[in-house]
Amino acid sequence: FEDVNTQHEVKQLDRVSKIQNLHDSPIRCQDIFKSFPDQHGAIRVVLTNGVAGVGKTFSVQKFTLDWAEGLENQDVSVVVLLSFRELNLIRDQQHSLLSLLHVFHPTLQKLPAEQLAKCKLLFIFDGLDENRLSLDFNSSRLVSDVTQTSSVNVLLTNLIKGKLLPSALIWITTRPAAANQIPPSCVTRVTEVRGFTDAQKEEYFRRRFSDEELSSRIISHIQTCRSLHIMCGIPVFCWITATVLENMLTSEQRGELPKTMTDMYSHFLLTSPQDLMEADREVLLKLGKLAFEHLEKGNIMFYQEDLEQCGLDVTEASVYSGVCTEIFKRENLIFQKPVYCFVHLSIQEFLAAVYMFHCFTSRKSEMIKTFLGKTYIETSLDEFMEKVVEKSLSSRNGHLDLFVRFLHGLTVESNQRLLEDLLGQTENRPETIQRIITNLKEMNTDRISPDRSINIFYCLVEMNDVSFYQEIQRLLDSGKKLSVTDCSALAFMLQMSEVLDELDLEKYNTSSGGRQRLVPAVRNSLKSNPDLTELEISEINIGGGRDSDMKNLLEILESSVSKVKNLRFVFSAYPIKSFIDTLILSLINNFILIYFILKQPA
Ligand SMILES: *[C@@H]1O[C@H](CO)[C@@H](O)[C@H](O)[C@H]1NC(C)=O
Ligand SMILES: *[C@@H]1O[C@H](CO)[C@@H](O)[C@H](O)[C@H]1NC(C)=O
Repeated sequence: FEDVNTQHEVKQLDRVSKIQNLHDSPIRCQDIFKSFPDQHGAIRVVLTNGVAGVGKTFSVQKFTLDWAEGLENQDVSVVVLLSFRELNLIRDQQHSLLSLLHVFHPTLQKLPAEQLAKCKLLFIFDGLDENRLSLDFNSSRLVSDVTQTSSVNVLLTNLIKGKLLPSALIWITTRPAAANQIPPSCVTRVTEVRGFTDAQKEEYFRRRFSDEELSSRIISHIQTCRSLHIMCGIPVFCWITATVLENMLTSEQRGELPKTMTDMYSHFLLTSPQDLMEADREVLLKLGKLAFEHLEKGNIMFYQEDLEQCGLDVTEASVYSGVCTEIFKRENLIFQKPVYCFVHLSIQEFLAAVYMFHCFTSRKSEMIKTFLGKTYIETSLDEFMEKVVEKSLSSRNGHLDLFVRFLHGLTVESNQRLLEDLLGQTENRPETIQRIITNLKEMNTDRISPDRSINIFYCLVEMNDVSFYQEIQRLLDSGKKLSVTDCSALAFMLQMSEVLDELDLEKYNTSSGGRQRLVPAVRNSLKSNPDLTELEISEINIGGGRDSDMKNLLEILESSVSKVKNLRFVFSAYPIKSFIDTLILSLINNFILIYFILKQPA
């Protein structure tokens, strides 16, 4: 749960794409509170993960609709749907649970307090990632009475912990990176909304276009571009792809179809008006500023004040016209206070990159200093890029990874031509580009986690440089030793390739540090091999800052995909107790036999 790194949106998707089409046991959203036959105890708190735009809110609505129509979950007498977006607006107020319910659901005013404790309630808290309340589960403030007044965050933590209305069911939805706000001990079941399977991706394009030839061409194009194909697991990305490719394939405008993410997003930004109007340009740059400043803070929802701070006039027609309506949306909420967001997080990341590039070319050093630090002085593009990559790698949760990928994509000439009105005068000397590539390949990532290091290779792909494929293949053929960085490249390649039958780390000539780098590939292989029933893990280094590797492993073993029933650990030191506790707790439902073997120190 605490490992935000590997849960970054797009990486999550890379992993998910591997486990589709397998004999997974999916759970219908109507059944999320029902126990499996071999499971004991009631399911009280469910946490549903899913990357942005994948359909979490849709699942919530489907559940509620089926309940309201009398089709499902009829033992529940009241469903209370609250989004964190709405709760944010009253975060400074004092409420009792009863008065909180009355604010959002006035019809419940007829329900007296005594009645409330008797009926079976289901609270749905949608969009934990948008939460701006500070949920402190350590606080000992106890609220157990529905009429007791307290701050909203205390009400919520007591409700989730089961101190307040212990019989109520709780359903929380969130993007993976925010899931760690809820302590695992409070959660009875974790589910994941996985987005489109490969078959559903095709179905989307076939249904969207009546022209069969058009849909076939689009499908075959995305199938040849693995990173685009993976992204299409997110419905909203299918929509972006469909919009761009339809536009290109049906208009006069010929030329190569977009192959990288940056390509796709650059075209998307320009699909509505062919030429950017000056007013649009201004607004886009202001939106870019908004995107960038809030990406750093981890905000994806903006209030009117946030827009005004970036010089965006919310009454300005431009925010609601032209290109902006495609990428930015306003949602009317309770209390009539509007909230704004980009249609998808990746659009925020893209615009943030465009803005940063613009700041570089137009020498807005002050802006860059707030990002890279006061010591930044104007420099060449390659040195600037190097500093940005270093900064992104030092981020704990990888929140700048996609931003950095886009930034590298923007160094490609064809993308610069598309966006020249926004990016400004760019320098494009082949030596500079080559230095950026070399810097990426030589970036010292020794102290960066294996998952995070792989982002370097995504950046190279965005720059259309895949020469590392051949370099690694040559090394493998020659049997020469693979460096730590080579192993990251190999892990990336394995991740991009189709499902592997077998992965034997011993066969690669590398150091133990190098082998660590292959963990992400092992994880995929584990997840994608449903028949694997035995697993031996030796030389685990617990507590050496590698806890996250263990957490990933646990997550996989716990998932319904895993059929591992026999697990042997070989330790070279006593594992810490909390690790064993976590392991046992999380595996207990899967009836896994665990051996611990303590190796004598050499
Ligand atoms: C809550 O307590 C845990 C362990 O006691 C600690 O690791 C964590 O930082 C605390 N969280 C907060 C928000 O104080
Ligand atoms: C591993 O690589 C080193 C250095 O290239 C080489 O000397 C050694 O023979 C290789 N080992 C194997 C088992 O191929």
